[in-house]
Order: sequence, then C-alpha cells, then structure tokens
Amino acid sequence: MSDAGTSTSTTHSRIPGALPVLGHLPWLRWRPLEFVERQRALGAVTSFTLRRHPAYLVNEPDLVWRLLTELSGEVGRGRDGDKTRALTGNGLGSSDGDFHRQQRRLIQPVFHRERVASYVPAFRRAAEVQAARWTEGESVDFVQQMLAVAATGVLATLFGVPSPGAMAYEVAAALPTCLDIASRRAFASMRLPTTSGRRYAVALGSLHAIAGALGRRFPSHGSVEARPYFLSQLWDAQDLGLPGLDDEQVHDEIMTMLVAGVETVATTVCWTFHLLDRHPDTAVRVADEIGHVLRGRPVEAEDLTQLRYLNRVVREALRLFPPVWLVRRRAAVPLHLGGQEVGVGASVYFSPYGLHRDPRWYTDPERFDPDRWLPDRQRELPRGAYLPFGAGMHRCVGEAFGVSEVMTILASLIARWRVLPASARVRPKAVVTLRPDRMPVTVQRRQ
Ligand code: HEM
Repeated sequence: MSDAGTSTSTTHSRIPGALPVLGHLPWLRWRPLEFVERQRALGAVTSFTLRRHPAYLVNEPDLVWRLLTELSGEVGRGRDGDKTRALTGNGLGSSDGDFHRQQRRLIQPVFHRERVASYVPAFRRAAEVQAARWTEGESVDFVQQMLAVAATGVLATLFGVPSPGAMAYEVAAALPTCLDIASRRAFASMRLPTTSGRRYAVALGSLHAIAGALGRRFPSHGSVEARPYFLSQLWDAQDLGLPGLDDEQVHDEIMTMLVAGVETVATTVCWTFHLLDRHPDTAVRVADEIGHVLRGRPVEAEDLTQLRYLNRVVREALRLFPPVWLVRRRAAVPLHLGGQEVGVGASVYFSPYGLHRDPRWYTDPERFDPDRWLPDRQRELPRGAYLPFGAGMHRCVGEAFGVSEVMTILASLIARWRVLPASARVRPKAVVTLRPDRMPVTVQRRQ
C-alpha cells in the first residue's frame, strides 16, 4: 500500500448533501465550482460518492503534488468514465503507463520552445484573418470566434492546413457539444436524453471526419517534404514499427490535439478579455505595453518575452479561470492518502480552480491582480498551489504552444481592436473546460 500525507494537518471528511442513489452527482453537475470550493474547509482529502462510486478530492497542494509525481505509478487515468477517452480513444491525453511514456517521447519534441516559436506567425495570421472579417461596431459571438481562431492555429501548425477557414469553423462548432456531452456522460455514466445523444453523435462524427481527413492529407506513404512535424513523428514511428502505433492510434492522437489544444486556448483568450473589461486600468497598461513593444509591427516570437505584463495578466487569468478546472485519477493500488484508505478503482480528483482560490496561499484570492506574479511579490507558493497545466508525467505537453498562442492572439487583437462586452453577465460554465457560458461583444477599431 502506498502512503502519502500522514502529517497532522491531514483530516478526512465526508461531504454532506449526498442523495440516496445519485450521491453527490447533482452537485458536480449543477454547482460544480461551489462543490469543489467548499470542500477546502472540510479537510485535506474529502470524500464523496458519484452514484455509488467512491470519490475523493485532494485539497492540499503538497498532497496533490505527490499524487502527480511520486504516486503517479499508483494512480492511472482509468479506462472507463474518463471525460475525454470517449473522444480521443487511447491518445496521449488518455493513455497510461509504458505506452503513454512511449507516445509522450514521440510527441513532446513537436512542442519544444524553439519549434513553438516558429508557429507564432501562424497564430498571428489566425487572429488577423478572423479580425479582418470584423466591421466597426459589429456584434460578435466571441467564444465561437476564438474557438475558430484557436482551431486555425492548431490546424495550420500541427497539420499543415494552409487556409483552415471552413475546417476551423467546423471544429469550433463541434467541440463544445462534444465536450459538454462527454462530460455529462463521464460523471457516473449519466444517461442522455435522445436529442442530446443525437447532437453528440453528429458533432463527434464531424470531429472524427476532420481528424480522418487530416491524417489522409500527408499519409505515411506520401511525400515527406511538406509534411508537418507532428504527422512526420507519427508516420515515421509507424514505419519503424513502434508498438501499438497503428492507424487507429494515429487517429486518436490527431483527435487528442483537436480536443486538448483548441478549447483550452480559446477560453483563456476569452477569460483574459473578460477580466480586462472588468479592470480598465489593467487594460490600458496592457495596450500601452503592446504598443510600446510592437510599435505598429505584427507580433513576432521574440516580442512575446518582452510582453512581460501581458504574461502576468495571462498567468493571473489562468489562476482565476483555469480551463482544466478538475482533473481525475483512478487508484490502481490501495492508497493511504492524507491519512485515509482509498480503495482500488476509486476516483481521486484535484481541482486547479479550488487550489488557485485558496486564501492560505493567495492574499485576497478573488481579486484579479496580475502583479501578484511579479518576482519580488511572488510569495513562496507551495508546490501544487498553481497548476493550470498540471504536473508530473501528464503535465500539459502543449504548455509553451498554448501560452504562445494565447499571447499572440491577445497582442494581435489588442493592438488593433477594442473588444467591448455586449452583456453585463458572463458566467463560468464548468464542463470539461471552464468556459464563459456566452460572451457577446462588440468590436471597435483603435484610432
Ligand atoms: C491554455 C492552454 C492549456 C491549458 C490550460 C492546458 C491544461 C492542461 C492540463 C491541466 C493538463 C494535465 C491533465 C492531467 O493531468 O490529466 C494537460 C494535458 C495535456 N494537454 Fe494541455 N492545456 C493547454 C493547451 C494545450 C495545447 C495547445 C495542446 C496541444 C496542441 C495541449 C495538449 C495536451 C495534451 C496532449 C495533454 C496530455 C499530456 C499527457 O498526459 O502526457 N494542451 N493540459
């Protein structure tokens, strides 16, 4: 049995409010953010049930860290009920163990910093092409448009699609439905009304068709020169006979990039604009910095390191609204976690959202304060208190890609446009990702 966190600070509490058959499922479904936040006060590891399935939430940063590092061999992702497995099969975001290690080694170089720098012009074009369609004062469905921009970035860089236009819109249209419904299904195999089931099938079919088309653009036996690096890595490894890398696995890896790499980026851009709208002084400071660094030029990779204030703004947006707000593992062996016995197969969760709003580590945690990330103001945070990209062997492989894309989109749009809210109320919707429920805006050209 593995032992973690038997220190005196660890208590274990059962969360009140379980219903007879569903357990705490309605809480996770209808008031998920409140559910994870209120557990913090109840113990280092709290327990609840989803239907009759035992589940735990780890609320202590140190314990979360250990779960993701030292104990990573003892907690896997589990095969059933994973939110994204239904969409991405056995891709990098769902696989475990040796196979995961093999695939991670294969895919990681695609996301090295130097390579990501070469993607910046494509990220910028994606934002510019979208903005070129805007007219002065136009109302825009910002969530949908940022999904299309983020999809364009992924399609152009990882898959070599020169003008992703219509394909990016298809991805943007299908993704939210797939993620919403997969998330509802994942929590203890909730049954779906027929209409949702049909919508899900159509949206998922459309994503699979796109992934299939992307794989066929540069097939394993085709010309190598123009092939984007991501597909080269997969096809070359297949030619070398890497175990398990059949066509279905390649398809799963393509689906993984569409599912993991688009909504996360789009929602971060949306939340950042939302926060800037609520904090006009910060918005002015950001626009001034962008004006000063770019001086009217299009943003380049080297500029991103100069946009230091924008970087803090993005970090702070990721603290308040981490797109991946809840992460699950499954105990593969009996665990002694936070002084408690966790049985094999139990779900063990942690919530970046809950951890990021803990007043023990963040003064005035609800306040948007990018300067809390200034080097001299940054208090020693415990490891595990800031996890927008996770940690350990499953830490986001696309972190540098994601941050560069978010910053490039923000800098390109803010340099030329004001994005003004057309609705006073933007509420977080926590499904697979934490995204604004809706975000209508009007756009105005800067003078
Ligand atoms: C702001 C943007 C992003 C955020 C906040 C984010 C967040 C995360 C988090 C928290 C995890 C860890 C999940 C876990 O522990 O189970 C993760 C994993 C992953 N992310 Fe990201 N992500 C972002 C962008 C991207 C992008 C752009 C891509 C690809 C184009 C990507 C691909 C992946 C993949 C493949 C994994 C699984 C890694 C593994 O298990 O080895 N992500 N991401």
